[in-house]
Amino acid sequence: MEKLKVGICGYGGLGRVHVGSMMAMDDVEIVAVCDNNPERLESKEVKINIEHNGPVFDIRNCRTYLDFRKMLKKEKLDAVVTALPTDIHAKYAVMAMNEGIHVFSEKPMALNSRECDKMIKARDENKVQLQIGQCLRFWPEYEMLEKAVSEKTYGPLKSLTMTRIGGYSTWAEWFNDGKLSGGAILDLHLHDVDWAQHALGMPKAICAAGVVGRSGAVDDVTALWQYDGFVVTIRGSWMYQTFSMSFQAFFENAAMDFGVHPDTALRVNVRGDKGFRKVDLPSNENGYSREMRYFLDSVRGKVKNTVCTAESTKESVGLVMLENKSIARQKWISI
Ligand SMILES: NC(=O)c1ccc[n+]([C@@H]2O[C@H](COP(=O)([O-])OP(=O)(O)OC[C@H]3O[C@@H](n4cnc5c(N)ncnc54)[C@H](O)[C@@H]3O)[C@@H](O)[C@H]2O)c1
Repeated sequence: MEKLKVGICGYGGLGRVHVGSMMAMDDVEIVAVCDNNPERLESKEVKINIEHNGPVFDIRNCRTYLDFRKMLKKEKLDAVVTALPTDIHAKYAVMAMNEGIHVFSEKPMALNSRECDKMIKARDENKVQLQIGQCLRFWPEYEMLEKAVSEKTYGPLKSLTMTRIGGYSTWAEWFNDGKLSGGAILDLHLHDVDWAQHALGMPKAICAAGVVGRSGAVDDVTALWQYDGFVVTIRGSWMYQTFSMSFQAFFENAAMDFGVHPDTALRVNVRGDKGFRKVDLPSNENGYSREMRYFLDSVRGKVKNTVCTAESTKESVGLVMLENKSIARQKWISI
C-alpha cells in the first residue's frame, strides 16, 4: 500500500503529539514540517500542557519550511495536520483545502461560527476531508460513558458533571490572549461542551456563569445544560495549577466516574455492589492516536466520517458563544 504523504504545520506541543501518533502507523510518511519559528524546527522537545510520552521524531528525516504556502506549493501532500494558534485555524485550513489537500485541524474549529462556515465551504468546493481535533470523541473513557448513556446499561442518565481545570499557559503566550485563543471557555471548556453535544445531543436550554480572567475572555466557567430528564454541569477553568479532567455520571442504577481519584481509572458502582470497580476500556490507545487513525482512514476512503464532522464541531463553537451570551446577560437561553 502506498504511504500517505503528510505535512505538519505548527510544530509546537500538539504538532509533536500528532507526529508521535503517526510514527506508530506504517501507512503514513511525514514528509514535511512547517513552523514560522525557526527554533521549533531545530529543537527536539517543547513544553506542553498535557502528558505526552510518545516517540520523538527526528526532523532531519523530512524537509522543513518557515512558510506554509511554500510547503503547499513544493510538496505533493495528501494531507496536512495543522496545530496552530486558534486565530489562524480557519485561514490555514482553507489555504490547504484550496490546494486540494485533506486537512486535520486542531480544536477549537475557529474563533467564531462565520470562520467555521468558511472552512466547511472550502471542504465542499474542493471535495476534501476536514476533521477537527475534538479528541474527546475518541477518548476510550468518554466513549464508554457515551455507550452507557445510549445503551442505558445502568438505566437512564439522571445527571452528569464534567470538569476540566488547569493553569494559564507557561509554554505558549498566545493562549493567554483571549483575542487569539478565545480564553479558557473556548480553548479548554470546549472539549466537554463538544463531547456533551456530540454524545447527548443539543440541550433544551443552557445557563452559564463565568469570570473574565487574565486573557480578557472568560477563563472560569460553570455551565448548566438542561435536557429532557437529566442535567449536565460543566466546569472549566484556567485559574488552577495542574491540569485534570474528570466526570461523575449518575444513572438510575449506578454511578460512573473518571479522573482525579488516586489512579484516574474509569470506574462504576452499580446499585447493590459494595463499591466501585474498574471498567475495561475498548482500546489502550489514547484519543489523539484514535482520532488521527480515523482521519487517515477517511482520507483513504476506508470510513465515512460520521463521528467528527465539521458541521457538528461548528455546533460546539456555537454553544460556547451561547454560553458567553448567557454569562453576559445572566440569563437562561433556550435552544
Ligand atoms: N486536543 C488537545 O487536547 C489540545 C491540547 C493543547 C492544544 N490544543 C490546540 O492545538 C493548537 C496548538 O496548540 P499548541 O499547544 O501546540 O501551541 P504551541 O504554541 O505549542 O504550537 C503552535 C506552533 O505554531 C507555530 N506557528 C504560529 N504561527 C504560525 C504560522 N503562521 N505558520 C507556521 N507556524 C506557526 C508556533 O511557532 C508554534 O510552534 C491550539 O489550537 C490548541 O487549542 C489541543
